[in-house]
Amino acid sequence: MRAALATFVLVFGLAGCRGGDSEEPPVHLIHNMDVQEKGKAYRKDTSGLFADGRVMRAPVEGTVATGSSFGNNVVVTLDQLNTDAHFEDGVDGKDNMTFPAAVKVGGEIPDTLADRGRSRYQIYCSPCHGATGDGKGTVAGLALDGGPRLTVPPPAMTDERVTGAVAGRIYAAIKNGVNNGNMPSYASQIPVEDRWAIIAYIRRDIQKQPYEGGEAIKDTGVITVASLEAGKALYKSKICFSCHSIDGSKIVGPSFKGLYGSKQPTDKGEVVADDAYLKESMLQPAAKIVTGYPPAMPQLGLTDIEVQSLTLFIASLK
Ligand code: HEC
Ligand code: HEC
Repeated sequence: MRAALATFVLVFGLAGCRGGDSEEPPVHLIHNMDVQEKGKAYRKDTSGLFADGRVMRAPVEGTVATGSSFGNNVVVTLDQLNTDAHFEDGVDGKDNMTFPAAVKVGGEIPDTLADRGRSRYQIYCSPCHGATGDGKGTVAGLALDGGPRLTVPPPAMTDERVTGAVAGRIYAAIKNGVNNGNMPSYASQIPVEDRWAIIAYIRRDIQKQPYEGGEAIKDTGVITVASLEAGKALYKSKICFSCHSIDGSKIVGPSFKGLYGSKQPTDKGEVVADDAYLKESMLQPAAKIVTGYPPAMPQLGLTDIEVQSLTLFIASLK
């Protein structure tokens, strides 16, 4: 009896590990759903589904998978697969006045969009632009004291600079940042649809104005001859107006009214605001800081002719 049992164990034991490959499923008493028909990458297709008999398929012609690289090691990102430039970039040839169709319902901007934008604004924008949009967030406070955080103060959302801006320009500020990083880009933190939600919230609850409006800031183009007219246009297009008034009132910087030829107290002593000083102020804003103001003037990359035009404009404001 014992010998018979030993033989039985030995025979079946050896048979069980004979080492060869088998296409057959292993002996499996209770199947449940463990063994079922399926294709495996390097096996032959037995289902008849694919005419060439291969289970592993090549990508559909003309498609590129996200994250894959091709040719000169260009890795394809989701951004490059964009098809809706208005939705993804806020522009459609130029800064766009309207919201993209992708965020509308039945052609209208739904209330839920601005509702969503409220929380996103409070998380991402309020530290600088303020919880109520007054431009006095906690981080902005540090900048206005000449602190290390920001070189330029953030505008209030109710400033003409933002109320007058078309939706596409506000979108561009979120996506690309402003003036070479004076405001950083929030593209990696804020998904596309949420960017539009934030704009909807700013329009509806902070600015209390229609969603779609404003004025695309006119590109002054290349100016070849210095003129007062060109200076006036540049004052708008180069956003000087958001910090310098022309009626004598103090905003972020000194007013341009009566500036030309006047005496200016600065950290390097008193100077006369002549052509040379104005030019220096525009091209190297940090060279001399007017007493009583923060060093908040951005580097605007003006050409000589633009500087001359702006100087003519400032000189005309007696
Ligand atoms: C870290 C501070 C900071 C945060 C956070 C911030 N901004 Fe700004 N923002 C600025 C500063 C500074 C400027 C002014 C830059 C300049 O004038 O060079 C600015 C300018 C702007 C402008 C004016 C752009 C123009 O073209 O005139 C808009 C619009 C704007 N921000 C919207 C937003 C929105 C929306 C958010 C939230 C997603 C946001 N900002 C978050 C600092 C910030
Ligand atoms: C983000 C705000 C801001 C913008 C935008 C800005 N400035 Fe200024 N600017 C200032 C501040 C603040 C000062 C005073 C501190 C200093 O001297 O740098 C100043 C100073 C000046 C001065 C010297 C004024 C004086 O009283 O002596 C000139 C000239 C000037 N800016 C021209 C311009 C022109 C032209 C533009 C547009 C092309 C412009 N600024 C855009 C903030 C700004």
